[in-house]
Amino acid sequence: MLFRFKVPSQAREDEVTPRELFLTRRSAIAGGAALMAAGGLPAFPGLAKAATFQVPTTVSPQDPKLDAPTPKESATTYNNFYEFGTGKTDPSERAGSLRTSPWQVVVDGEVAKPMTFGIEDLLKFPLEERVYRLRCVEAWSMVIPWIGFPLAELLKRVEPSWTARYVAFQTLADPAQMPGLRSPVLKWPYTEGLRLDEAMHPLAILSVGMYGEVLPNQNGAPVRLVVPWKYGYKSIKSVVRITLTREQPPTAWNLSQPSEYGFYSNVNPDVDHPRWSQANERRVGEFFRRKTLPFNGYAEEVAGLYKGMDLQKFH
Ligand code: MTE
Repeated sequence: MLFRFKVPSQAREDEVTPRELFLTRRSAIAGGAALMAAGGLPAFPGLAKAATFQVPTTVSPQDPKLDAPTPKESATTYNNFYEFGTGKTDPSERAGSLRTSPWQVVVDGEVAKPMTFGIEDLLKFPLEERVYRLRCVEAWSMVIPWIGFPLAELLKRVEPSWTARYVAFQTLADPAQMPGLRSPVLKWPYTEGLRLDEAMHPLAILSVGMYGEVLPNQNGAPVRLVVPWKYGYKSIKSVVRITLTREQPPTAWNLSQPSEYGFYSNVNPDVDHPRWSQANERRVGEFFRRKTLPFNGYAEEVAGLYKGMDLQKFH
């Protein structure tokens, strides 16, 4: 494994994000600035109680040049979130209308114990900071310090049945909060899917924050998937439902253009998009293009999941 996850006791003082800061910001957003100004009463007393924990930082021993984090300003203003429009600045300009609290994620399907998690329940999972590359199918990329926890931890709680082979994800689809839904650019709600073994892989996380803070709405608040070895569109935002299934589930991009967007969507410099090359990419904020790495640089960890598969066919 290329990634070492430090437990809080191993992390140096300067390597941890105070959870207090993280949760205080969440309370401030949920409760409104006025409440904070009036004495900082937290909106969720339960959350405030957990405020003494700290978020451990993941140390990534990859080439530090490759993994220099993208400036937060770029990562929060150059986004794809079609529920708020197709322009890169639409999400940061319009996603303020998304209400992220209260928020529930239903987990159901082929499981022994279907459950509904409130966002406050998700924040109780052991949060870690993970610096991952995000490679968009449009051939740009970023490096983002996410805060989240392995999707596997959530899936284990609901006890997948032996019949479960895939995991389907669904984003909220509320036209009152999401102006982009008026346009039929995709089949709403936005959906995505993984094979169960992909979903259980330790690199796949549910993220609730980035850059040491709660997720901005435009980046998929309050909870999104991050699957770093796949094209960015697999990392579905603002998730409200996770369903374990027997059959491969339909996905929004595959439904819209099946020849261009396969189910697997592993980053693969050898398989071009029908309309452009995937051999290289532009790191947001950089001028020169760099070579795209197989599985976005995570081949050592994940290539085994696809042993024996024709990756041209199963793109
Ligand atoms: N999730 C939803 N619900 N709607 C979207 O339009 N866009 C995807 C993915 N998740 C998208 C989504 C695409 S194409 C990319 S590249 C990433 O989100 C972008 O994530 P970012 O804006 O946080 O960089």
